[in-house]
Amino acid sequence: MANICIFDAYGTLFDVMSAARMLANEKAYDKFSKYSEKVSNTWRIKQLEYTWLRNIMDDYLDFWQITKDGLDFALEESQIQNTQLRNRLLDLYWNLSAYSEARDVLIALKSNNIRTGILSNGSRDMLDSAVKSANLNDNLDVVLSIDKIKIYKPDPKVYQMVLDHFNCTKGDVLFISSNGWDISGASKFGFKTLWVNRNFNPQDRLNFKPWKIVNNLSAIPSIVKELNE
Ligand code: 2OP
Repeated sequence: MANICIFDAYGTLFDVMSAARMLANEKAYDKFSKYSEKVSNTWRIKQLEYTWLRNIMDDYLDFWQITKDGLDFALEESQIQNTQLRNRLLDLYWNLSAYSEARDVLIALKSNNIRTGILSNGSRDMLDSAVKSANLNDNLDVVLSIDKIKIYKPDPKVYQMVLDHFNCTKGDVLFISSNGWDISGASKFGFKTLWVNRNFNPQDRLNFKPWKIVNNLSAIPSIVKELNE
């Protein structure tokens, strides 16, 4: 029985590449299109690396600062020095696009009496803004930010936040993420996990494997229904 579906935010519900893509579509920044993919990829990789490294070094900084640091690295790597462009990219990060199927999937889960939530490294205000701008508020029971405990995924204390919030057991939870490392962390913690592998990436060589793999979020309501029959 999995009556609680918990989603990772960035890369799973929200398209982290959409900020650079949106900027490249703005007339004033059309030259940026040449760099947008590289900047986006490095930005994301550095953002994640900094969370893991800061966990190990016991040197917490909130996710917004880490997001800015990751972007500054990425822009320097592509030799882009443009404060206006930097600030515009950061603004767009507060209103990332949700994947097109995300809202309908949450609505379908709620109509099947499944409780839904986000568990994310994102800071409280970043998450609130992204959820609001994607119009997902009404279909999420909770948005859990690691802000509260100041340690990043995949530390087990993060996954524990779900149990503490819902006062439930690990067996009640299906954890959904597009990040292979997050899936490993959640599986090791004891959650049933579903990996959203949009880009057909190879599986991480970590011990803990996903329970199921899908290519987008669409099949989740029927998978959950079947699981609970
Ligand atoms: C999250 O939302 C970093 O994507 C990750 O927690």
